[in-house]
Amino acid sequence: MTMRMGSDHYGPILVTGGAGFIGSNFVLEWLRHIGTPVLNLDGLTYAGNLENLRSLEGDARHIFVHGDISDEKLVAALLQEYRPQAIVHFAAESHVDRSIVSPDAFIRTNVFGTFALLQAARSYFSALGEEQKKTFRFLHVSTDEVYGSLTPEDPAFTEDTPYAPNSPYAASKAASDHLVRAYFHTYGLPVLTTNCSNNYGPFQFPEKLIPLMILNGLEGKPLPVYGDGRNVRDWLFVEDHCSAIRAVLEGGRPGETYNIGGSSERTNLEVVATICDLLDELSPDQKIGSRRNLMTFVPDRPGHDRRYAINAEKIRRELGWSPVEKFETGIRKTVQWYLEHRDWVEHVRSGAYLQWIETNYAGRNA
Ligand code: NAD
Ligand code: DAU
Repeated sequence: MTMRMGSDHYGPILVTGGAGFIGSNFVLEWLRHIGTPVLNLDGLTYAGNLENLRSLEGDARHIFVHGDISDEKLVAALLQEYRPQAIVHFAAESHVDRSIVSPDAFIRTNVFGTFALLQAARSYFSALGEEQKKTFRFLHVSTDEVYGSLTPEDPAFTEDTPYAPNSPYAASKAASDHLVRAYFHTYGLPVLTTNCSNNYGPFQFPEKLIPLMILNGLEGKPLPVYGDGRNVRDWLFVEDHCSAIRAVLEGGRPGETYNIGGSSERTNLEVVATICDLLDELSPDQKIGSRRNLMTFVPDRPGHDRRYAINAEKIRRELGWSPVEKFETGIRKTVQWYLEHRDWVEHVRSGAYLQWIETNYAGRNA
């Protein structure tokens, strides 16, 4: 692939939320594959972790700025100083359960934060020269949760599926998607939106299903399965998400949406059982025995979406992207990564993390 974005008469790309799970993978992958500088703006909430980017210490291509996307003046100043050729917007509050317990931060960052970023981008874009205007892009990273919930018989989500968000998180992302769309139609800002399914892989914060189950299973703790465990998610290895975003930046048509998915639908029970078996194989422990015995059904998430599935035909057809990793190989790599990075795990499981685990699971004791 020739990278239009790699051209050297531009400044760096601006990545927001580049210290989070997908953002940090994206920054690392960008520097590995494209190599042009990255300006990384991240507020370092509980989910942001500069340790994810430790391998870039001393690498002048990575410029980190600790700041909030809602701070329009800061963003405007960064755009003026660094003159980015593109903005890739990951920064968000991302955990559905937290959005149910306290939605406020989700509205602040996902809605007002995206709005502030759009305002700064619009003003920056309007002052660019004609040549730069042709190639500037604002890529908004969104989720399949905006489309709501599918029954087992429904066809997978396409880009034309009507929005029907069900959690405060999904509603805040839907609102941000609508703002992004409006800035294209009203102001001509060259935006791209990607709606992706569930990611997994290295550096995922252990509040989410897969890393939580790996770490609990490793330590012989209960594995809390919500409801009947038959909810379905369409799992995508994070590196495949990053390559899809690069493909959309490179060749996506402004104003368009691209769905990204792994074609790997699994029930939560299947995912947890696979993790149990991998742990038994890679880290056997006689005292714990078979990890499957740790699986514990707990009261369901309120408003729990039953099934997500992505139809990724458009990005395959238009941009030639399809996922490389199969779920079975990706989940093995992921379990191995957590086994080999115990220091990282210890550092992210701080006091604030333990407090969240107490808040989310204490009330669920079946
Ligand atoms: P994450 O929670 O791991 O990381 C979010 C990052 O954003 C953190 O580094 C955090 O510090 C930063 N951040 C939060 N609020 C900020 C603010 N106000 N200003 C600046 N930085 C702020 O999230 P993730 O799982 O990596 O998800 C990244 C993006 O991808 C999100 O927009 C999410 O909606 C979307 N997405 C995630 C998935 C998934 O499965 N994880 C799937 C589809 C889409
Ligand atoms: O679909 C994309 C979305 O995927 C992203 O937009 C979100 O940012 C991301 O967090 C993820 O949302 P989910 O709610 O699907 O992911 P989570 O890992 O929280 O849960 C996955 C499934 O596992 C879901 O059906 C709820 C269930 N679950 C989760 C946890 C944390 C459990 O059964 N037990 C648990 O302890």
